[in-house]
Amino acid sequence: MKNIILCGFMGCGKSTIGRKIANKTEKEFVDMDRYIEEKAGMTVSEIFEKYGEERFRELETEACKELSEKSGLIIASGGGTLTYQRNIDILKKSGRIVYIDVKYEMLCKRLKRDTRRPLLQVENRNAVIKELLKKRRPIYEKAASIYVDGNFTSGRVADIVIGIIQY
Ligand code: S3P
Repeated sequence: MKNIILCGFMGCGKSTIGRKIANKTEKEFVDMDRYIEEKAGMTVSEIFEKYGEERFRELETEACKELSEKSGLIIASGGGTLTYQRNIDILKKSGRIVYIDVKYEMLCKRLKRDTRRPLLQVENRNAVIKELLKKRRPIYEKAASIYVDGNFTSGRVADIVIGIIQY
């Protein structure tokens, strides 16, 4: 049985939705950021700070490789994971990629007080979100085989995804 990989922008709800899907379908849930943190013994912020973004991206690709060797997982990828073609290639082979699309205004609201995401610790946070979203949206759309409107509660989005993947 293949994996289900959730992708989308930071704050789109990948982890919350993924956990709900896993609970309801009795599958194992893996949050890629937490997986990387556990392996590295430090937080994503600490990895960025100590070794830089490039090193984090290498660890992310390692995680993609390791997780794609397993099956039956519900995986929440990081917001930047699918922006690397090498990761798309690995993850596509291991399962179905679901894009959770959430509108800009909602993302800004959800990410307003974030302190955990290194890319957002800037003064002009909303402008960075806008710029990144513009770049990434077409990439997520292209990488995913399933598109889901994520502008609902996490429970409702989880049910929508379950409806599609069980079909
Ligand atoms: C990132 C998203 C984060 C995390 C890291 C980089 C990105 O994951 O992997 O801070 O480039 O969008 P979430 O989407 O789970 O916040």
